[in-house]
Amino acid sequence: VDPDFVHALFLRIGSTLSSYAITKKLTSLALRHDSTRLSQTLCGIRFDNPVGLSAGFDKDGEIVGIVKEVGFGFESVGTLTPRPYKGNLKPWSRRLIKTKSILVNYGLKNKGIDTFIKLNSNLDSSYPYFISVGKTNCPDTVTIEQGIRDYIEILTKLENSNIGSVYEINISCPNAYGGESFSNAENLNILLDEIAKLKLSKPIFLKMPINLPYEEYDKILDTAVDHQISGVIIGNLNKDRSSYEISDPLDESMKGNLSGMPTQDLSNKLISRTFQKYGDKLVIIGVGGVFSFEDALRKIQLGASLIELITGMIFEGPQLIGEINQKLEQYLLENNIDDVSKIVGSDHKKS
Ligand SMILES: Cc1cc2nc3c(=O)[nH]c(=O)nc-3n(C[C@H](O)[C@H](O)[C@H](O)COP(=O)(O)O)c2cc1C
Repeated sequence: VDPDFVHALFLRIGSTLSSYAITKKLTSLALRHDSTRLSQTLCGIRFDNPVGLSAGFDKDGEIVGIVKEVGFGFESVGTLTPRPYKGNLKPWSRRLIKTKSILVNYGLKNKGIDTFIKLNSNLDSSYPYFISVGKTNCPDTVTIEQGIRDYIEILTKLENSNIGSVYEINISCPNAYGGESFSNAENLNILLDEIAKLKLSKPIFLKMPINLPYEEYDKILDTAVDHQISGVIIGNLNKDRSSYEISDPLDESMKGNLSGMPTQDLSNKLISRTFQKYGDKLVIIGVGGVFSFEDALRKIQLGASLIELITGMIFEGPQLIGEINQKLEQYLLENNIDDVSKIVGSDHKKS
């Protein structure tokens, strides 16, 4: 079945389930698993469990009313941009089944921030929603000045409407017009200088690219720390098709970038590196190729306080979230560990 159709269907079902108290209750009973051992408070925000829905699945906040019941401890909504974008040429996604990956080419498709704010003015403030923001995908946002204007506009609107718990700045969408202008330290520095002037009331996280050489990656983190960024989400799609052995037919004419397994190792290495160098300064959210409890545990032990996923849920089904949480609680119990924060980065603390 066409994956774009399935994605739209998932959103329709999710939106319907979120409309009635009874369907919400039944969804929660069937899927959600919580335990005090899984909860953490980070940046002053309480997370009931460490598994979140990554940005890009719920681009316009259509299923914000059901993600909690599905079992997620938090959600990244978006990526939203100041103006709407109807999406790149279809197909927006292709499933690479043997590779356990999705070739993604939406290009920041969304209905724009004004529609989002209008529909979500009552968004539950007790549940952690990260609002992922980017610059509009169009030729008018290509220069650094224009790009910055777009980020400032969207953040100002969000701040004025007081929606969401965290601002997630997407500097790493590989599928947008003009490329990733803020995935280098020099431009990011200018952007973050301007954002600092807004004196935003909520924590800021950066959604990181995963294909940069370590030297450039480190410079971005230095810039983030200089600007009191609270955390980093590691990371976005894999742009380098040669970095992973792809087992499905995929030719150059098929546009897009890879999620799932081809992101797993790159993300794990960067989580580990970031924790060792900046673990005391930045909260790390690990994303990329989480298909099981073991994959989630690995990211936590390498240094991620929270993890997010999309492709794992698409391949394994929505019960995966509760299953990860249930097995994580079991693991903590068996090893006599009070709570999940005690094993964050534990790989680096052995010997
Ligand atoms: C269908 C799809 C759409 C995505 N759209 C976005 C997006 O709008 N913004 C963003 O920051 N990341 C986006 N991503 C990247 C994911 O948030 C995530 O970083 C990446 O897919 C790796 O996680 P996964 O292997 O669990 O899917 C998208 C991924 C997928 C599969």
